[in-house]
Amino acid sequence: KKVVLAYSGGLDTSAIVPWLKENYGCEVVAFVADVGQGAEELEGVEEKAKASGASECHVVDLKDEFVKSYVYPTLKTGAIYEGTYLLGTAMARPIIAKAQVEVARKVGADALAHGCTGKGNDQVRFESCYAALAPDLHVIAPWREWELSSRESLLGYLAERDIPCSASATKIYSRDANAWHISHEGGELEYPWCEPTDKVWTMTTSPEQAPDKPEYVSVKVKNGEITAVNDKALSPFECLDVLNDIAAKHGVGRVDIVENRLVGMKSRGCYETPGGTVMMVALQAIDELVLDKTSRSWKAQLSEQFAQLLYDGRWFTPLQQSVMSAAQSLCSTASGDVVLKLYKGSVTAVQKRSPNSLYSEDFATFGADEVYNQAHAEGFIRLFSLPSRIAALQKQQKG
Ligand code: ARG
Ligand code: SIN
Repeated sequence: KKVVLAYSGGLDTSAIVPWLKENYGCEVVAFVADVGQGAEELEGVEEKAKASGASECHVVDLKDEFVKSYVYPTLKTGAIYEGTYLLGTAMARPIIAKAQVEVARKVGADALAHGCTGKGNDQVRFESCYAALAPDLHVIAPWREWELSSRESLLGYLAERDIPCSASATKIYSRDANAWHISHEGGELEYPWCEPTDKVWTMTTSPEQAPDKPEYVSVKVKNGEITAVNDKALSPFECLDVLNDIAAKHGVGRVDIVENRLVGMKSRGCYETPGGTVMMVALQAIDELVLDKTSRSWKAQLSEQFAQLLYDGRWFTPLQQSVMSAAQSLCSTASGDVVLKLYKGSVTAVQKRSPNSLYSEDFATFGADEVYNQAHAEGFIRLFSLPSRIAALQKQQKG
């Protein structure tokens, strides 16, 4: 019996290792996904896993693939959940699940385990991905089984077994970080009437403390993908990394929302997505130039569909592929340059151009031109408003 555990080095998954061994009598292989959460979280993680009792620890570098194959495709759909959340945690779950399954195959495991609670979205996301990729493997979700419900009890559980742990009893927030974002939940955030304290935010400078001078940054867009920042061609991960630094300095990308979880309850969360926010604004600016009215409305529908399916953990489904191909085809003209202005928490696209721009000063101004004859507007309006005219005439006739 062998189980591969999605391990983070935090308190929860540290306790899960001995718990699995004791309750399932199995060997535990730790799997750590490096999705760009940062050196601090990854430091010494292998030693920690082994100290908890894992037989092996596999750390897999997924940073480039995460941004290239999950973040960038998602950006092409323009997905935003409930108008605000840029889906950072949701985007990382499919790639983590996929890499975890690969480790399970490599070591010949018969089960997968994760440290998500029984109240959240993440359990659904992980297990839906497992179902699609490895229907034959068992799934163990200790949080839904054990009686350890507080940080104190988890610390006590480890202490009884002489397992070292650097975690403290007073950690306030539940956070999830990757190259795209960091999320914060818990603590005072559980009360929507409480403004988040400065202790919540970890990735960005507060807008109040951001520089008093705006900064301009330029990006190059090719078919819906950002390929260069400030005239330097970079990989997707590098683009995000550079934009994170610049935008974080200016306090860009903080949001504070109450959202609907898939499992029915509402939760309050704060998110920091500095570089990602700049990317979204840049891509929207190109869409403004290249998409006609009906294409934009179609894209808005795709965005909504994709946000829902991604939030709900349906990455490895035919629906995802179908919506993604539609979004990709709409991106065939999404190329150009955008200059963004960053200032005290805001980001604005102040210059935009595209070789595929449909915007023409000649058509928009009121001078004489070849393609637009104002006399044609009369017939258009007559037919466009015909239903209203017919209804109103009938009303008059009925008196
Ligand atoms: N509410 C967000 C989401 O569902 C963030 C979840 C954070 N997850 C975590 N394990 N801390 O995507
Ligand atoms: C968890 O409950 O494990 C984190 C929050 C979520 O999944 O929504």
